[in-house]
Amino acid sequence: MCGIVGIVGDKATAKAIVEGLRRLEYRGYDSAGMVLATNVGFEVKRIAQDTSSIAALSDWVNATTNSVKLSSAMGHTRWATHGVPSEMNAHPHLDCSGQFAVVHNGIVENYKEIREQLMALGHEFASETDTEVIVHLVEERYRLNNDVREAVTEAFDELVGSMAVVVMNLKEPETFYMMRRMAPLVIGTDDSSLFVASDIPALLDGVTKYFSVPEDALITGSVRHGKVVLEPLPETLEVEWDASKVDVGGYTDFMSKEIDEQPRALSDTLAGRVDRGGLISLDELNISPEELKTIHKIVIVGCGTSLHAGMVARYALEHFVRVPVEIEVSSEFRYRDPVLSPTTLVVGVSQSGETLDTMVALSEAKASGAKTMVVSNVVGSSMARMADAVLYTRAGPEISVASTKTFIAQIGALEILALYLADLKRTLFPAEVQELISKLNEVPEAVGRAISQIQEYEKTTQALLEYQRFYFIGRNVGYPVALEGALKLKEITYTPSEGYPAGELKHGPIAMIDDKAVVVAIASKSSLYEKVLANVEEVRARGAKVVIVANEAPVDSEVRGDEVFLVPRIHQLFSPMVDVVPLQVMAHYISVSRGLDPDRPRNLAKTVTVE
Ligand code: M6R
Repeated sequence: MCGIVGIVGDKATAKAIVEGLRRLEYRGYDSAGMVLATNVGFEVKRIAQDTSSIAALSDWVNATTNSVKLSSAMGHTRWATHGVPSEMNAHPHLDCSGQFAVVHNGIVENYKEIREQLMALGHEFASETDTEVIVHLVEERYRLNNDVREAVTEAFDELVGSMAVVVMNLKEPETFYMMRRMAPLVIGTDDSSLFVASDIPALLDGVTKYFSVPEDALITGSVRHGKVVLEPLPETLEVEWDASKVDVGGYTDFMSKEIDEQPRALSDTLAGRVDRGGLISLDELNISPEELKTIHKIVIVGCGTSLHAGMVARYALEHFVRVPVEIEVSSEFRYRDPVLSPTTLVVGVSQSGETLDTMVALSEAKASGAKTMVVSNVVGSSMARMADAVLYTRAGPEISVASTKTFIAQIGALEILALYLADLKRTLFPAEVQELISKLNEVPEAVGRAISQIQEYEKTTQALLEYQRFYFIGRNVGYPVALEGALKLKEITYTPSEGYPAGELKHGPIAMIDDKAVVVAIASKSSLYEKVLANVEEVRARGAKVVIVANEAPVDSEVRGDEVFLVPRIHQLFSPMVDVVPLQVMAHYISVSRGLDPDRPRNLAKTVTVE
């Protein structure tokens, strides 16, 4: 949560900071601020205007600072953890003397003790945030040793928690002090400027080299005599994204753009995974095939949509590889005492590769001797660096808070993993693996056919606009699709919506069914098709409005007045990748029809770097 962007050198303008913040808005947007190093000192602006803080910051920039020449500037977009969203609590924060400015992403867990100590020493605090202790601590250490680098290092060593921090010093405005611990921070450079940000999209324009700030180390970045100097020089990052991918283009919002990009996201994820000899290859695998052959249990951890992608994959992994697969919410897994061994593979699924709970779950799994793998969309993300193996989804940047294309890409990547393991362990014949790979390679085109039905799906959704309660049901792989449909709807329309295994209805939830409820049934033809339809009968009999996601319309649906979302027919285990499309479109259409912003739902942020 929270986004940081900073620039030193020629490109340091207030406008460029606003542009960077816009690209980080998915990390939080309840307030925003910036500090500009001008020739007369620091100029600070903080704004708290709910979802329009960055727009208001941009208005301020246009009205006041357009032509000011800067040595450096940094900005911050906030998702409040400590202290309400307000101007006072917005970053950057300054020390008592006004010499140091700090922006921060993450949580300082021991901030209360530090704050008390600093207050006892006479420091005066202007906000309720945990962040403010950082800047006063730097001031205090600097007062004692008169060395900024030492002061920043000592302060950072005293902080407990996960965090990314950038410190500016008024006396050397051409320098940034940058540190991170289990929170992302990347550096970009061109010939004459240095950029730092929480995520690559905020760096894109003109950057020629990317670096990742190492865990728990201080990097100093300066521009001296027009030359960028980084000390020590961090590891470079390979980045394949380009700026056009983080632009909304001709779409009204990122979510609709990203729904449209799904066939491409999936085909890019599947591309190049099979070599000429028909062997599947994974990205970065520091686990030998011999070790993988010994895997006797797979545990998948993730949160939200990523968890649902893992749930979908469980069916393929168990069916094709014949190993038991456990699936668990990362925040629960990390506080259990799970039974893991060197023959357990723990797979973290995380679009961002930064979600704190999943990251900690993986690191604890690694510490207890299990093999670890991450499925991530971000090259070089914290989890990608930490896990023994990485499987990248190549979906391109996903900006909308509501995940769409990365869900489909995650399922695609995990299906590849299932086939890879099945091949390795010989639980499928090579010919069967080949046949399944060709079936999987047909899915992007099928997703494209579902997307060509968007207008039909929207027309169908019109009949649902007035309803205020939705229940999604499915069996087998339809169950995680039901969960994902409910999550999409609740997060961007704030409509109560729940997902259930269809067979569970009778055990409680059916009590809520009446003529004000919509029941969306995932009922693509499969071995359990008739059983789902039987559950549909039960809710229809209780007056619910019925919506069916089907690859063949049930014969009597028109007569009964049911709504039907038709999707292409594909292999049952892959079907979630098409079944989810109408549910994404439905949620998006309801959100926009109700005048809401699907890209920036209230209270949410795309990357959750706090527990
Ligand atoms: O970056 P991650 O995949 O680890 O994020 C996990 C969840 O926060 C995320 O999937 C969230 O549920 C979706 N953005 C909701 O649409």
